[in-house]
Amino acid sequence: MSGSNDGSAERAAAFYGRRKGKALRPGHASLMDDLLPRLAIVLASPAPARLSGLFSAPVDEVWMESGFGGGEHLIATAEANPSVGFIGAEPFVNGMAKALAAIDDRDLGERIRLHHFDSVPLLDWLPDASLGRFYLLYPDPWPKTRHWKRRFVGRDNLDRIARVLRPGAEFRFASDWAHYVDWTLRHILAHPAFEWTATTSADWKEPWAGWPGTRYEAKAIREGRTPAYIIARRR
Ligand SMILES: C[S@@+](CC[C@H](N)C(=O)[O-])C[C@H]1O[C@@H](n2cnc3c(N)ncnc32)[C@H](O)[C@@H]1O
Repeated sequence: MSGSNDGSAERAAAFYGRRKGKALRPGHASLMDDLLPRLAIVLASPAPARLSGLFSAPVDEVWMESGFGGGEHLIATAEANPSVGFIGAEPFVNGMAKALAAIDDRDLGERIRLHHFDSVPLLDWLPDASLGRFYLLYPDPWPKTRHWKRRFVGRDNLDRIARVLRPGAEFRFASDWAHYVDWTLRHILAHPAFEWTATTSADWKEPWAGWPGTRYEAKAIREGRTPAYIIARRR
């Protein structure tokens, strides 16, 4: 990853998580060396006028997931939606390596493009109204008051997400931290570009159709926390 490609110079303090865990096994290390550069989005080059041009397979629309962890949701959703191209961002090396292994196994490389860093410079790179969906699933909750400003959801990032979603497209969010769910809902309700789609409590208590779960969700449920799901539509 080069400095000019990761946006770090412009926004050094935007990503607060850890980038490295335990040493990669050799197969995963070679996927990081060989497959990631083939699938990585080069932010130093301008985005194609039609975002579908990023992919080597024909796609009808493009969806993005920020902070995909080990890629469980990204991979399952890509498999379930064969006419969609996916962009995934994940700074954590071990998560990226795991997702690459699944992409390789399932031969999904023609429809997935990756960014191994903070999603924010990637959002800023995307053309206006170029995405049909944006997922933020179990973002780091930053529960301490002094860390709330680190949360991914805020007016600035909602402005970014609003710019890249086409009208009618959806921002889908899940979290097991009640305070972050309330926080996100308050930001969405205050944002003129979004409307919350829920009409009954089941709409936020139950996941949307086709939800494959994520690793963090399984952990949250095991530990007794209750997830909530928000779909906000771009006006
Ligand atoms: C709590 S984990 C959840 C992972 C996954 N979505 C899941 O549900 O299993 C949050 C993830 O967001 C990633 N992350 C944090 N800040 C990010 C940012 N600014 N851009 C992209 N990913 C980010 C972290 O590296 C971490 O893998």
